[in-house]
Amino acid sequence: MEIKRMRGTNDFLPGEVEKWHFVEAKLRDLCARFGYQEVRTPIFEDTALFQRGVGDTTDIVEKEMYSFQDKGGRELTLRPEGTAGAARAYLENKLMGAAQPVKLYYMGPMFRYERPQAGRFRQFHQFGIECFGSHSPAADAEVISLAWQFYRELGMQGLQVHLNSVGCPKCRPAHREKLQDFLRPRLGELCASCQSRFERNPMRILDCKSPVCQEISQGAPTTMDCLCDECREHFEKVKRYLDLAGIQYEIDERLVRGLDYYTKTAFEITVPAIGSQSAICGGGRYDGLIAELGGEPIPGVGFALGMERIFTALQTQGIELSLPQETDVFVSYLGDEAEEAAFQLLYRLRAAGLRAEKDCMGRSLKAQMKYANKFNAAYTVILGGEELARGAVQLRDMRNSTQQEVALDRIMEYIQVR
Ligand code: HAM
Repeated sequence: MEIKRMRGTNDFLPGEVEKWHFVEAKLRDLCARFGYQEVRTPIFEDTALFQRGVGDTTDIVEKEMYSFQDKGGRELTLRPEGTAGAARAYLENKLMGAAQPVKLYYMGPMFRYERPQAGRFRQFHQFGIECFGSHSPAADAEVISLAWQFYRELGMQGLQVHLNSVGCPKCRPAHREKLQDFLRPRLGELCASCQSRFERNPMRILDCKSPVCQEISQGAPTTMDCLCDECREHFEKVKRYLDLAGIQYEIDERLVRGLDYYTKTAFEITVPAIGSQSAICGGGRYDGLIAELGGEPIPGVGFALGMERIFTALQTQGIELSLPQETDVFVSYLGDEAEEAAFQLLYRLRAAGLRAEKDCMGRSLKAQMKYANKFNAAYTVILGGEELARGAVQLRDMRNSTQQEVALDRIMEYIQVR
């Protein structure tokens, strides 16, 4: 039987991968501009990291983790997200000893056992940033502004920043109690997941997609109604900084992120018309995470964005990325003898730093010319016949359709790319 790739995974083939490179280069450039440095953490971690970090009662930990025992009996999990691993790395490598804040970014595959659908995969890719060590609301706004700037530079339209504050351990108990009081009379009507969330994690009921639960929770007290002075002031300042950066946002009091570590700021960015999975980016502050993992109470704020969803959004919005030309020179030849000279020239061109290609399927010259079109090269060189015997070749500039005879050993002088 033919072996197929696993459900919810993708092969990214040449043609598409170049778009990933383009977007990744833009993200790296943005990180350099915003002062974020790359961190690379393992793809698998101790399962306890996610249980403690992301939270035992979250969908991710309860239902979606790829967890297994290795041959040594260790409980491992393929990372479902990047924040917990980055926080562990910060703690384990004592980055609190460096100048704060420590601003890190990562990109790579994440794994969640979700029901695959458009824009939702079991292996997907995130780019994320995490800023550790600063309590300042300016850090929250900086994080949001990096994501915003990224989508703007890609030319995306209709972006919406949804902003909320989910409070802190000081103000959350009051909210929890008010929310439970509000929902209790109709507890039996909530969906099975929400009934089980009622005691363990009632805030998530506000986020349930079931129409019945949505109707029941209409008008329920939100965290915003219960914020303590510190959280309220923080939220006001985040808004102020976003205003200063000219970033528009909407307050969304029902925005409850699906991970437990959030405190104060929570946000998501959506684009319209990419289907049900319109959240292209999500993040927020997590001032309790490092302490939860056994460290000092060091604050943090960050986001992650789905790479696959960028490409869906670009396609829906009809945005073409301006990818660089891939081939500089296509070398073609007529006859066996010319083939050797062509091979040698190909090597010289590549050694000189040019992107050069030639046929290696024994095509006729005519077929080579047809094949050459695929490369969209800036130049085509034609070697053969008595011309080559004189040490000369034809050099065709494909961009302006001019052709000239040049000496083979001086060809480099005539090639101008980039
Ligand atoms: P998240 O909201 O779970 O947050 O994921 C962030 C983004 O990853 C989503 O907005 C979405 O674009 C993408 N994404 C999530 N799941 C899938 C999937 N199954 N298939 C395709 N794309 C997906 C986090 O992961 C947090 N660690 C973000 C964060 C960083 N918060 C603070 N720092």
